Amino acid sequence: MSTIENLSENSPHILVLGMGGTIAGLASNPADKPLQYDAGQVEVAFLLDHVRSAIPEGISLVSKQVANINSRNLTESLLIHLGEAVREALDSTLVQGVVVTHGTDTIEEAGIFLQMTCGKYAQNLGKRVILTGAMLPSNAPKADGPSNLLDAIRWASTPIDNCPGGIYAVMDGRGCLAMDLSKRHGSALNAPIQASPSSSVGLINPSWLSGVKAAQALWTEDLPIPRENEWPWVEILTSHAGARSETITHWLNSKVKGLVLAGTGMGGLHDAWHDSLAAALKHGIALVRTTRTGAGETLPNLPEKDLAGCLASGSLSAPRARIALQLSLNAEKQAQAAGKSLTWQDFFARIAVLPVIR
Ligand code: SIN
Repeated sequence: MSTIENLSENSPHILVLGMGGTIAGLASNPADKPLQYDAGQVEVAFLLDHVRSAIPEGISLVSKQVANINSRNLTESLLIHLGEAVREALDSTLVQGVVVTHGTDTIEEAGIFLQMTCGKYAQNLGKRVILTGAMLPSNAPKADGPSNLLDAIRWASTPIDNCPGGIYAVMDGRGCLAMDLSKRHGSALNAPIQASPSSSVGLINPSWLSGVKAAQALWTEDLPIPRENEWPWVEILTSHAGARSETITHWLNSKVKGLVLAGTGMGGLHDAWHDSLAAALKHGIALVRTTRTGAGETLPNLPEKDLAGCLASGSLSAPRARIALQLSLNAEKQAQAAGKSLTWQDFFARIAVLPVIR
């Protein structure tokens, strides 16, 4: 992680953490082919310089480059660095709020990770952590990164009455809880947020805000950030026409600790998987069921009774359910080492039952 020398570092400021993504991308022929580009090329300090003249007076900014990647290559190691950088920022009395510039391809994974590991802490401290990104590279004629970055900086630094501390995301003029992000379109400017309960960033919608407070009230405790090599191996498998039992049995003698099953409709799984899933449970593999439809909730015992021990994902998409399961399995291990009899299901249920903002 590199820190850009900045005089503001010793006075109150907003910290902007750079992870890369399209917001930091460059196209070789931006005028004619803005969608042909390399992500993670430009330093976050440069992105800030570009918008500095539009930053409201009185806001000081400090930047740190945590990574500069195409987020499809996000690793568990980088999630650790991001989580630790956010925790350190929350701990600092000089940091008033945090902005994270991130690739949109896996921003939903970073969003649920930060909610589950730092969400309560941010809320208790009354500090906002705002994730943002862009769908067009930084040198595209109509680049959306600068306005998203400005919105995120304004939201991270606006007076606390408008919105409580917590982990949020801003894209295309709207804000949502970061744990509600879900990229649902390949190229639309609002892709990661288009299906998320959200509010205009200019005028916070009171009904969205009361939903945020209801969800936050039920998130009582952050989970530990797993250390390097502590991340349990969890895969996502999709149920489909012609599904085979081997898709499941393949994992029985592996080191896989959990499977997220993206089912059809309300999260239904092909009958061909039935016996092999029972065998997976016997092997101690944790199972979570979600829907491959991309929208709607997956609820316990719908459309039919769950295999004992397999949990429904609630409103979590498969990528978010996967991170939630990894953190829950790690939390179980740590709880049991401390002599507590909590299971991964206890931890996973805390996030899966949070109310959906309407
Ligand atoms: C990435 O996720 O790094 C590339 C795509 C994007 O940011 O929109």
